[in-house]
Amino acid sequence: MNEKTSTAGPKLGLARAGFSSGFGVLAATLGSAVGLGNIWKFPYLTGANGGAGFLLVYVLATLLVGLPVMMAEISLGRAAKANPISTLQALAPKRQPWWLIGVAGMLAAFLILSFYSEVVAWVFAYVFKAMRGSILSSDPQVTEAAFNALISDPLQSLLWQWGVLVFIGGILLLGVTKGIEAMTKKLMPILFLLLLLLCAVSLSLDKALQGLAFLFQPDFSKITASVVLTAMGLAFFKLSIGMGTMMTYGSYFRDDQNIPLTTVRVMSADLCISMLAGIAIFPAVFTFGFAPAAGPALVFITIPAVFSQIPMGQWLMVVFFVLAAIAATGAMLSLMEVPVVILHERLGLSRPKATLLTIGLLVVLGASCALSNSALADFKLFGMSMFDLFDFVSSNIILPAGGIFIALFVGWVWGVDKFSRSLTNHGQLHNQKLAQAVFFLLRYVSPALILVVMLKGLKFF
Ligand code: PFF
Repeated sequence: MNEKTSTAGPKLGLARAGFSSGFGVLAATLGSAVGLGNIWKFPYLTGANGGAGFLLVYVLATLLVGLPVMMAEISLGRAAKANPISTLQALAPKRQPWWLIGVAGMLAAFLILSFYSEVVAWVFAYVFKAMRGSILSSDPQVTEAAFNALISDPLQSLLWQWGVLVFIGGILLLGVTKGIEAMTKKLMPILFLLLLLLCAVSLSLDKALQGLAFLFQPDFSKITASVVLTAMGLAFFKLSIGMGTMMTYGSYFRDDQNIPLTTVRVMSADLCISMLAGIAIFPAVFTFGFAPAAGPALVFITIPAVFSQIPMGQWLMVVFFVLAAIAATGAMLSLMEVPVVILHERLGLSRPKATLLTIGLLVVLGASCALSNSALADFKLFGMSMFDLFDFVSSNIILPAGGIFIALFVGWVWGVDKFSRSLTNHGQLHNQKLAQAVFFLLRYVSPALILVVMLKGLKFF
């Protein structure tokens, strides 16, 4: 992503840097979407929620709710060219509190970063464990013991998390995010190839068909209200929507960027990577006797088993976890961007100060997640550890609620004219019908659907 100072739109805050090429836009947006959500969260939630039925609902939620909301967010951000709070203030009629969506988004960013940084911490730790060769085994007992030893050790959990936070903070403070994005762009194809290799290995295992059936043959009896809510929450988490991240990225979009095309491409690539992760994991889960419902541990215990089947598996596994860490870094940078840009533009803190404050808060909040399997294992709220609670509240409550309000804002306040002008680039693109269809979804379908799923999933009726 190259620098280009934008001239369009109201100037809120300092001069804003924008993406200067179409490919840069696509890469950065994809960099936010693709992360541990694909490699870690998607497989573990699919495993814990019954397999193919969950996948089906997740895909439907992505299409019916995720895509329209993503287009809405990016359009709003590009129209105002500001942080989410200022964007909504600028676009809403005076005194209507739509900007609260931005405040909720900032809260969601802190909650997600608190547990996400811990999962990245496990990935970092696994790079080193893989180098030592201690985890390469297809015996569930061995790989489970290795993972449990890591997460139940409070000091290791904390130190690795601090390492991650210092790493991300360092990237932001040194202003090398662009370098990281450029690197990510070059390295992601390697992650893709490694995933393909893992799929090939996994598909050659004894019980590959059983794994594929689990992933692709829906058992409709397993689709309960809470499964639907979890799948929808995953759709929001995956596309980084409902909390202002895509609004912030939209503010860096160029005026001639094709928003519908970009979102569809990001969504397709993102879905494709998640599917590859699923195909790499489930055949191995069934062949080696892991539990599909192993939870957040699933990937960390299964991936070593797949690599144990390949010559040079140990070193390829090192590469895999390094690349997973890099993918996660892109997602974390986009998450950090929400609070940093809000603190910078709204409270007038310099970017370095805003970054340090964010990191400082995360050290405190994140510790409650890092220690969820050790020192704080018995500390539960609503029956959940802090790690699970932060994940649940952000993905299943704040992001979908943010999605409802963003859809309602576009559908009922911003209006069809401005939205269509944004999706069609002021009539330059010939996608008027598409813009109207997306508007219809945003005005009626998405908010109603999200609300019903939330209320049912949270057992309000
Ligand atoms: N989409 C990222 C992933 O799947 O790993 C996580 C994420 C990034 C969620 C940015 C939300 C966000 F704003």
